[in-house]
Amino acid sequence: MMVETLTLGRFHHHRLDFKRWIPALVTSHRTLFTCLWIAAFASIFVWQRHIVNGFFMIGRSSARPMPKLRPVAFNLTDFGGVGDGVTVNTKAFERAISVISKLGKKGGGQLNVPPGRWLTAPFNLTSHMTLFLAEDAVILGIEDERYWPLMPPLPSYGYGREHPGPRYGSLIHGQNLKDVVITGHNGTINGQGQTWWKKYRQKLLNHTRGPLVQIMWSSDILITNITLRDSPFWTLHPYDCKNITIKHVTILAPIFEAPNTDGIDPDSCEDMLIENCYISVGDDAIAIKSGWDQYGIAYGRPSMNIVIRNLVVRSMVSAGVSIGSEMSGGVSNVTVENLVIWDSRRGVRIKTAPGRGGYVRQISYRNLTFNNVRVGIVIKTDYNEHPDAGYDPTALPVLKDISFTTVHGQGTRVPVRIHGSEEIPVRNATFRDMSVGITYKKKHIFQCAFVQGRVIGTIFPAPCENLDRYNEQGQLVKRSVSQNVTDIDYDI
Ligand SMILES: *[C@@H]1O[C@H](CO)[C@@H](O)[C@H](O)[C@H]1NC(C)=O
Ligand SMILES: *[C@@H]1O[C@H](CO)[C@@H](O)[C@H](O)[C@H]1NC(C)=O
Ligand SMILES: *[C@@H]1O[C@H](CO)[C@@H](O)[C@H](O)[C@H]1NC(C)=O
Ligand SMILES: *[C@@H]1O[C@H](CO)[C@@H](O)[C@H](O)[C@H]1NC(C)=O
Ligand SMILES: *[C@@H]1O[C@H](CO)[C@@H](O)[C@H](O)[C@H]1NC(C)=O
Ligand SMILES: *[C@@H]1O[C@H](CO)[C@@H](O)[C@H](O)[C@H]1NC(C)=O
Ligand SMILES: *[C@@H]1O[C@H](CO)[C@@H](O)[C@H](O)[C@H]1NC(C)=O
Ligand SMILES: *[C@@H]1O[C@H](CO)[C@@H](O)[C@H](O)[C@H]1NC(C)=O
Ligand SMILES: *[C@@H]1O[C@H](CO)[C@@H](O)[C@H](O)[C@H]1NC(C)=O
Ligand SMILES: *[C@@H]1O[C@H](CO)[C@@H](O)[C@H](O)[C@H]1NC(C)=O
Repeated sequence: MMVETLTLGRFHHHRLDFKRWIPALVTSHRTLFTCLWIAAFASIFVWQRHIVNGFFMIGRSSARPMPKLRPVAFNLTDFGGVGDGVTVNTKAFERAISVISKLGKKGGGQLNVPPGRWLTAPFNLTSHMTLFLAEDAVILGIEDERYWPLMPPLPSYGYGREHPGPRYGSLIHGQNLKDVVITGHNGTINGQGQTWWKKYRQKLLNHTRGPLVQIMWSSDILITNITLRDSPFWTLHPYDCKNITIKHVTILAPIFEAPNTDGIDPDSCEDMLIENCYISVGDDAIAIKSGWDQYGIAYGRPSMNIVIRNLVVRSMVSAGVSIGSEMSGGVSNVTVENLVIWDSRRGVRIKTAPGRGGYVRQISYRNLTFNNVRVGIVIKTDYNEHPDAGYDPTALPVLKDISFTTVHGQGTRVPVRIHGSEEIPVRNATFRDMSVGITYKKKHIFQCAFVQGRVIGTIFPAPCENLDRYNEQGQLVKRSVSQNVTDIDYDI
């Protein structure tokens, strides 16, 4: 129906064009005849192409064929999948993935999820597989928690995180895998988190909510060109993984009342790249973690060698990019660059507490833009949220070698709040090329306590007196004698 209308429309258009051009160009009936032939042929060609692209099925001219990225590709419908938003497709996913799990030696397999709404309970991925979501394909997480299997707590957390004992698994899950790709033409994985958030608030859940996508103890993971939305809990959680790339991913959840819907939580992960993503969620857009207190210290796996770049993020509840608060296995060698944070509560944040142990070091932030961000740069060392009373209060994290280069923006109330403490001082912090437009007042907005470090060149607003001053050439101008002075005001 739509094809005909559209083709006719185009045909009329051609005819109108011809009418205009006839007097000038067409001198004989023969030429006119040829022109009409070409027009008719072009129309048929366009019409055919629409059919091939599945134009009828989804009523849109933009549907693209799915590329074949593995030697063998399957269609979810081959395994009995029904994309009507009502049929539960768990068995179809499981059957497909079971077949793909046998193709590893032959380069693996691809599972295409065509346009439609594919309701499912949690399922597991396999190695050497590509999950490909067509444009307008939506994988929908089933809302009834009885369909969600329970799993043991993460070893580095000891707890489900919200409740002791087991936790719900993730909608899309994987353990001990290698070479997994989740991609598509920007299809969606939707966790239908609304029911979970509501039950969480009403304290109706006995176990920790599940993430949307969680990959554990795996390597060579690629996640691109998809949209993740409304996760029950953290959205994308790579746990103790190596070599993970996440790019061109959109992550969405309501900015309020979607508790703990962090965007991406690299947790005890190594060699990770996150780039060109848009994230707007109900908690941290990104939170780099490595385990919780005594459990994280015992597990002892750091997050390291992480690059985060070219992101636009929003968080009204927490921060754009966080490190911690669970960081007991240590976090090092993280670069965050070309980051725009807009209409958010905080820009970038490091949070920890006595009992965490571990370290946060070799962290560099470059080219940050804060647009209407209440507090820009935050370091907090008393984030006292512990799994149980068994934590060791003398396990003190080390925070050092943290640099901020090129920080701009406007509409910021408190550009910097570095709240080190006597137990957990912040060492070797560097600020260079910073000018952030402020909204409130000039005094006491570059807030510091127990921080040692330097400012290179001129920065705006004027830095706290805790920091040494260097000129643009890197020569010491004035050494601070008040590193431990406290000027923190949470009321601004
Ligand atoms: C998948 O199967 C459905 C139903 O048979 C079909 O409409 C669709 O075109 C197929 N998609 C691909 C990519 O093969
Ligand atoms: C997924 O894999 C994990 C680990 O092997 C297993 O414990 C769990 O039962 C599997 N879940 C499903 C839904 O098959
Ligand atoms: C992907 O889909 C999301 C959600 O609809 C949208 O916000 C985003 O702009 C899309 N990305 C691209 C590249 O089309
Ligand atoms: C939670 O536990 C209580 C008491 O054991 C039980 O009545 C309730 O059904 C459980 N709720 C869920 C969501 O499992
Ligand atoms: C990392 O994973 C990608 C696939 O995502 C793979 O192509 C690449 O070879 C891996 N790199 C290393 C160093 O193993
Ligand atoms: C992935 O998304 C990016 C940005 O929208 C686009 O340039 C690229 O072509 C997409 N890749 C595929 C395979 O669609
Ligand atoms: C830091 O991480 C980057 C990016 O992953 C890596 O290339 C570099 O070798 C790492 N540096 C150290 C000292 O490990
Ligand atoms: C800084 O970041 C902005 C926003 O991401 C980007 O447009 C700009 O090109 C970056 N500048 C440099 C020098 O990389
Ligand atoms: C301070 O941190 C910078 C990186 O920000 C590093 O290059 C330098 O070596 C550190 N200085 C000391 C004394 O450790
Ligand atoms: C500041 O406090 C730290 C310990 O928190 C201490 O090591 C350092 O000597 C103090 N610096 C000054 C100037 O008092």
